[in-house]
Amino acid sequence: EEIEKGGFEHFMLKEIYEQPKSIRDTMRGRLLVDEGVIRMAGVWDHQEKFLKAKRIIIVACGTSYHAGLVAEYLIEDLARIPVEVEYASEFRYRNPIIGKRDIVIAISQSGETADTLAALKLAKEKGAFIFGVNNVVGSSIARITDAGAYTHAGPEIGVASTKAFTAQLTILSLMAIKLGKHNGNLSAEKFNALTRELDAIPELVQHTLETTAEKVIEIAERYKDSPNALYLGRGYNYPSALEGALKLKEISYIHAEGYPAAEMKHGPIALIDENMPVVIIATKTGHYEKVVSNAQEIKARSGQIIAIVNQGDQEVRKIADYVIEIPNSSEEFSPILAAIPLQLLSYYIAVKLGKNVDQPRNLAKSVTVE
Ligand code: G6P
Repeated sequence: EEIEKGGFEHFMLKEIYEQPKSIRDTMRGRLLVDEGVIRMAGVWDHQEKFLKAKRIIIVACGTSYHAGLVAEYLIEDLARIPVEVEYASEFRYRNPIIGKRDIVIAISQSGETADTLAALKLAKEKGAFIFGVNNVVGSSIARITDAGAYTHAGPEIGVASTKAFTAQLTILSLMAIKLGKHNGNLSAEKFNALTRELDAIPELVQHTLETTAEKVIEIAERYKDSPNALYLGRGYNYPSALEGALKLKEISYIHAEGYPAAEMKHGPIALIDENMPVVIIATKTGHYEKVVSNAQEIKARSGQIIAIVNQGDQEVRKIADYVIEIPNSSEEFSPILAAIPLQLLSYYIAVKLGKNVDQPRNLAKSVTVE
């Protein structure tokens, strides 16, 4: 096992640091930047289905569900196809309306999650085209789907998903860009700009790992004994807030909630006082000014602000207790970069609390019972 960990203390840390490679592996052979092509046979062989789709429904659980929420922004923005994202466990029991022109995409690292598998079977019975985004080759979901695209993140051992999540975001970005190109919603210029940027994301992830870890360790030390934490984000980074909170809960057992920043005033704001750390994702693209004003509301109530910002940010720095800088990117790819310090923060808090990071209590890597 020590050999498998490759010098890292835990699988989770190893997997966090593997992300420049796992993202690159997921794009390999698919993203051909100089030729202006995205190759995805699973989509291309069924282009009729995708180009005529009325709606895409994404079903998933846990972290994969959060990747699905980012995909909703990606696909609606870039390809203008309506998307719904559902917890597989809810979808399967609510007599959903599904038609022949619907595409149901299951996102699952393991490809074995019982609820996701059952949701797909239901969609298939109702005549939808079913598509899998899985990491484990030959898994149950991969076997029953009409088509799919594997994330090539490599085996993920840590129960809390890290590299599988960013690989899912990578695949879903490729899909959204490809669909947008072929259904005429993305100009050649925008296609080229996005693909060039995505191609460089592994280096930016590497840079993020190198430049944020030290600061994150300091923040982990400061807040490790807090009983609660709130995570806020908007737009593409609203799912990032949910995922950040999930990571913290899973491995440190600290109660954490992720919320859309603007929704804070309808409840969570009541919890804010000097003992409440609030992690806020305030990247420059998207709804920056709005998030800044949400941060001001937190500060006015003496909340502790840990802000994830872009390099060179000036505004948030004035009000935040801690800032973590991530590289500048288009909004579309900011959840990949924001995921890195969020993963590291949960990891270091859990380690400092002496928790079993790779195998947290009560959780399983693959949930094959409902
Ligand atoms: C479990 C794991 C999570 C994972 C979820 C969905 O709860 O602990 O890390 O996100 O299942 O798993 P899947 O394999 O379907 O992505």
